[in-house]
Amino acid sequence: MFKLLIVGNWKMQGTVESAVALASQLGEQWNSNKSVEMIIFPPFIHISAVAATIAETAISLGGQNVSEYPSGAYTGEISAEMLVDQGCKYALVGHSERRALFNESSETVAEKFKAAQSAGLIPILCVGESLQQRQDGQTVEVVSAQIAAVMNVAGLQNVCRAVIAYEPIWAVGTGETASPEQAQQVHSAIRAQLGEAGEATPLLYGGSVKAANAAELFAQPDIDGGLVGGASLEANEFLNIAKLIEA
Ligand code: 13P
Repeated sequence: MFKLLIVGNWKMQGTVESAVALASQLGEQWNSNKSVEMIIFPPFIHISAVAATIAETAISLGGQNVSEYPSGAYTGEISAEMLVDQGCKYALVGHSERRALFNESSETVAEKFKAAQSAGLIPILCVGESLQQRQDGQTVEVVSAQIAAVMNVAGLQNVCRAVIAYEPIWAVGTGETASPEQAQQVHSAIRAQLGEAGEATPLLYGGSVKAANAAELFAQPDIDGGLVGGASLEANEFLNIAKLIEA
């Protein structure tokens, strides 16, 4: 059995002081656990301080984004190797905010995925449909095209070695969550798309996950954990969500 994952994406929030305080609260209360891995994604500029804070804990660290380029004259970018150098194990690629607000195409996301994996990071590939696409009945088509774009560049086996997070855009930061049935339906379509090679690929759900709705989502057969935004900024709430994965 592979590990279930509880992931906190802190987005662009907090100071170094608040990041360290949150990380240390999590570190104190999260027990090393054989079946669930906790991963946190602080803003880049806080990664170093957070890495030092959680060094003796079982919590893993990741970058919220990664450059598709290995190094060079790319002002403002952070490479996969730099993330590894800071102690990161994971990188988010293709978060809907990156796709929508920073114009990242599926092709760019695929290059980022490949760059992350080549440097030894585990990519968490984010996919998801807009409200309009859902209303038009295109959810599975959109999600499977986003995954296929990465498969075309990185190959099926490499996609299966990563983590995929289904985050419906209409549920991100809105307080609206996909119903457990809606989420499971997409997760099962993703599982089918990956085929046999993806039987052990962790599939996460994200989009307004909180302690009050997490249990039902995590009870679904193809949901292997959660990618949490807002509710990961409060240590107790995030720990409570994490406990529901174990349950
Ligand atoms: P919220 O949990 O705030 O909806 O954010 C989800 C998300 O985007 C995690 O990556």
